[in-house]
Parts: sequence; C-alpha cells; structure tokens
Amino acid sequence: MRVTIYEVGPRDGLQNESAVLPVEVKAEFIRRLAEAGLTTIEATSFVHPTWVPQLADAAELLDGLTRAPGVRYPVLVPNERGLDRALEHGVTDIAIFGSATESFARRNLNRTVESQFEMFAPVVERALAHGLRVRAYVSMCFADPWEGPVAPAQVVEVGRRLLDLGCYELSLGDTIGVGTPGHVEALLDAFEAGGVGPDRLAVHFHDTYGQALANTLTALRRGITVVDASTGGIGGCPYAKSATGNLATEDLVWMLDGLGVETGVDLRSLAATSLWLAGLLGRPSPSRVVQALAKE
Ligand code: HMG
Ligand code: MG
Repeated sequence: MRVTIYEVGPRDGLQNESAVLPVEVKAEFIRRLAEAGLTTIEATSFVHPTWVPQLADAAELLDGLTRAPGVRYPVLVPNERGLDRALEHGVTDIAIFGSATESFARRNLNRTVESQFEMFAPVVERALAHGLRVRAYVSMCFADPWEGPVAPAQVVEVGRRLLDLGCYELSLGDTIGVGTPGHVEALLDAFEAGGVGPDRLAVHFHDTYGQALANTLTALRRGITVVDASTGGIGGCPYAKSATGNLATEDLVWMLDGLGVETGVDLRSLAATSLWLAGLLGRPSPSRVVQALAKE
C-alpha cells in the first residue's frame, strides 16, 4: 500500500506563525521538503495579502522556487483575482477552500456558504481551461467554534457541490482539531451514502486534542490514501479561533513506516528540517516524533 502525503507546512503551517520568515528561507524550507521525498508541497496562498500577511510574498516565492522534477507545488486560491496572480507565476495546481458553516464562511471568506460557490465556480472553470489541477477543501467538518457540532449531511452537501465544480479531490478539514475516530467514521459513512467514495477524498486533521493520528488511521482503514500533514506540526488557521497545528508529517511517517505503508519520505531528513525550522521560529516542534528523534 502507498499513501500520498500532501504537505501543507509552508502554507497552513506558516500562515499562522507570528514570525514571518524571509522569502529565501521559505524557498529553502520547500526545497528541503522535496529533498526528503515529499512529492506534493502546498507552497503558499494567493489570498488577500492583508488577510494573511505571512504569505503576502507568494509571487516572489514562486518566482524564486527551484521546482524539483516530479514534485507538485499547489497553492490556495479563493477567487478570480487570486487565480490571475497564480497564473502569472507558473502555477499548475491550485486548491479552493470552502466552509461547511456560515460563521466560518463569513470570517474566512467574507461570504455566505451559498455565495462561496459563486466565487469558486469561475475560478475552477478558468483553472481547468488552463489545464490546472484543482483540489477543494471543506473546513469545519466536525465542529465549528461558533456553531458547535456540524452535521455530516451539511458537510456532504458542501463537499459534493465543490467536487461538482470539477475538483479532482476533496480534502476534509477538521480545522479546529476536535474530531475523533467515531466522527470520522460517521462522516465517511455520510459521504459514501451520498455517492462519494474514498478515491475522491483526502483528510486534513489538526491535532488540537491529540486525535489526528487516530483519525488518520481510521480514514486509511476506510480506503483513503491521501493525507494532509505539516512538517513539525506547525500552523493553524488565523480565522478559526482555537485552531492549532496540523498533524505533524513526522508523526504520520513514523506510523506509516511502522505499518509498512510506502510514502517515499525519509523521516530523518524530515526531522532534521523540522529542527532547523523550529530554530528559526524560536519554539520547539510540538511533534512527539520530532522530539524523540532529536534525542537519539
Ligand atoms: P473581500 O474583502 O471580500 O474581497 O475578501 P473582495 O472580493 O471584496 O475584494 C476587495 C479588494 O481585495 C479588491 O481590491 C480586490 O482586488 C482585492 P480593490 O479593488 O478594493 O483595490 N483582492 C485581492 N487581492 C489579492 N489577492 C486576492 C484578492 N482578492 C481580492 N486573492 C477574500 C475575500 C476571499 C479575498 C478574503 O476573504 C481572503 O483572502 N480570505 C482568505 C483567508 C485565508 O487565507 N484563510 C486561511 C486559509 S483557509 C484554512 O486555513 C483552512 C484549510 O487549511 C483547511 C482546514 O484546516 O479546514 C484550507
Ligand atoms: Mg488547515
């Protein structure tokens, strides 16, 4: 069995750090991730620069990036303005990002749940016409800090509409990291009943309550083979109160190595990059695997 790790550290990770790294350091981070064997590295976002100042250098970053053969470098794009900017800088893969709840749609996109589709539809249409690959995220899949628990049917409805725009994959985001394996089972049941199987789905867990790895294993057992993770477990979403870092890529690789699942990623090389990054960010990685490997 093989699992594709969709690395989000440079985007989901760095978007939430108070320290803004220089653009050359971000490029070096991405280069090191590719060297460690990651083949999908979400590099940055073409969102409004005042909304996410940490990634305001997206254009400069992409212009200075040395692309490794066989590696994809998707970027987040919310709207047509973002797509125009991405196209000017040689992007081949984008991701749109929808919300399952009204509260987060308003805070993260300045839209309603309904009007987010009007924003995304022309983005996907034009991106596909340019030959780009388009992924979709759906956020707040289990609960929302303002609205509480989110019903699986609500997530399936939003997710199906995002897929129907023409996206090749839907990444299910536990934005605030509150889901548990039981919630994952229930959501995947609801997608299956709605005609969306594991081949169209990826999982995106934040590790606020320490459940990200258990949730991932649950998803793998249900046939999902694309898992989002962030090196060093950095990150969160600035517009989601209480969101912490993603599942750490090292924690994921440690588990997959143990299961005999191929990822193509060299754990020690990745952990060395985490320690390098933690030094730059001025705080230790929250990943237990990074901490344990550092003591070896
Ligand atoms: P808005 O204020 O409604 O934008 O923001 P607008 O369409 O009304 O435009 C206002 C002005 O902004 C215009 O300029 C536009 O040109 C400009 P003016 O004409 O006034 O001079 N503008 C832009 N400039 C540069 N790039 C752009 C852009 N768009 C408009 N792309 C908008 C709407 C969507 C842009 C804003 O809400 C936004 O940028 N939101 C992004 C927030 C964000 O990045 N959040 C974090 C990522 S999501 C996440 O982390 C969750 C995830 O990890 C999954 C999970 O964990 O669940 C993916
Ligand atoms: Mg996220």
